[in-house]
Amino acid sequence: KKTDPHIIVIFGGSGDLTIRKLIPALFNLHCRGFLPSCFAILGLGRTPHTDESYREKAVVGNPHLLKNENADDKSIKDFGRHIYYHTMNSQSESDYGNLKDRLMDINEQCSTQENYVFYLSTPPSLYQSIASGLAKVALNHEDRGWKRLIVEKPFGYDLKSASALNAHLLTCFKEDQIYRIDHYLGKETVQNVLVTRFANSTFEPIWNRNYIHHVEITAAESVGVEKRGGYYESSGALRDMIQNHLLQLVALVAMEPPNLSSAAAIRDEKLKLFQSLRPLTVEEIRNNVIRGQYVGSRINGESFPGYREEEGVKSDSKTETYAALKFYIDNWRWADVPFYIRTGKKLPTRVTEIVVHFKPTPHRLFNYTNDHVNAGNTLVIRIQPNEGILLKFGVKIPGEGFRVTNTNMDFHYSQLVESYLPDAYERLLLDCIQGDATLYSRGDSVEAAWTFINPILNAWQEFDDIKVFGYPVGTWGPEHADQLIEGKNFTWRYPCKNLAGDGA
Ligand code: BG6
Repeated sequence: KKTDPHIIVIFGGSGDLTIRKLIPALFNLHCRGFLPSCFAILGLGRTPHTDESYREKAVVGNPHLLKNENADDKSIKDFGRHIYYHTMNSQSESDYGNLKDRLMDINEQCSTQENYVFYLSTPPSLYQSIASGLAKVALNHEDRGWKRLIVEKPFGYDLKSASALNAHLLTCFKEDQIYRIDHYLGKETVQNVLVTRFANSTFEPIWNRNYIHHVEITAAESVGVEKRGGYYESSGALRDMIQNHLLQLVALVAMEPPNLSSAAAIRDEKLKLFQSLRPLTVEEIRNNVIRGQYVGSRINGESFPGYREEEGVKSDSKTETYAALKFYIDNWRWADVPFYIRTGKKLPTRVTEIVVHFKPTPHRLFNYTNDHVNAGNTLVIRIQPNEGILLKFGVKIPGEGFRVTNTNMDFHYSQLVESYLPDAYERLLLDCIQGDATLYSRGDSVEAAWTFINPILNAWQEFDDIKVFGYPVGTWGPEHADQLIEGKNFTWRYPCKNLAGDGA
């Protein structure tokens, strides 16, 4: 694809996301030859920096960039030449005129043709005023060069605030200029869900209620809230992971095949899927949504603090660090097939995977070594780590009679000749620069996802008796979540780091 000359303008230029993810991703794109020779990065922020001192912070002394295997002196120097900084207060309207002048200077120097990506790597409370500030000085006009706006998550706090944010952004930019980022969509393995389904003829014919018993999606993290207690207190697992990342995975697993692989066609199908999520009643929220919070525990003699002991967290906080839910999709393909999704912090391991459980055989012909073997075939799509796909199926145990055991057929990305998995931000930034919004969320979908989540947030707020279950650090969350899964011999998969390993 064509990559025009451009400037990437980062609001929050010295912030954590910029230093940890964005600049290293851009560096890698540069080293891998994906950026044109005429490009520039302009960091913005209130912290005063000169171009030189910002280069030192963001490039030369940035440990996240330096761990890249391409980070030799020459590449660092080459890349550093493209980096600039401009001190401004994004909340002061009068600063936008100066920003525009500065951009014109860089255009002249770097021949970047007034093509700009504006990246909002700031607290969400600043998004609206930044968009207005840019629009005030016509930095949204595309008469000379394109202008694109990348908005980081969280996109809204609930349905009302997300709709208000959408409405405001649309007064400043057109929908096709707005790129709402969900970094899960930038993961290779997430994109591969579409390829697995729609580039093979074996899966799609059985990808429906006639053959699938249920679908399970897990995004487990072993880390806690780290230094983000303040942010997390106003978020919680439902907003932080489920409204966006996990529902995106649900959409990719469950959507209908699009007629084209274009942004519009794929995003139309995702929207339809979000609109088919069956709204949860208060009764279902009580029974089918489990929220948990990690509590301190001792593992091998070492003590680990609970969530309420973390920095920035209230001592009586009810914020959930774990959430599991069961729900249905009301459409022809998925009627009555339960979907189970869960996510949590301080779980035993870091793993994200989609598990499709096929129905057991209609007639039990052979002897199985245990009931679990007859519970049906399972397809595991491992998003991270040890990325790959695993199919579990029954085979005959050699010897007398017909005794059946389960075995694994597996594919690992590491086996591919081209096995480099780019960081999600690399792919997403490049797509935006190239004007491809396929892997970004469209405004209507974001609102549709909030429409599904909002009743849960309301019920949790309204009904004090809906429990927050404690779970010890290093366990798989509240035991109540185990009871969500219906069906004899079916349980959550308890995955290990290794793709083939599970506790079942
Ligand atoms: C972010 C959440 O969006 O995703 C974090 O805010 C979470 O709380 C992170 O840790 C998980 O991303 P990944 O790519 O490590 O699975």
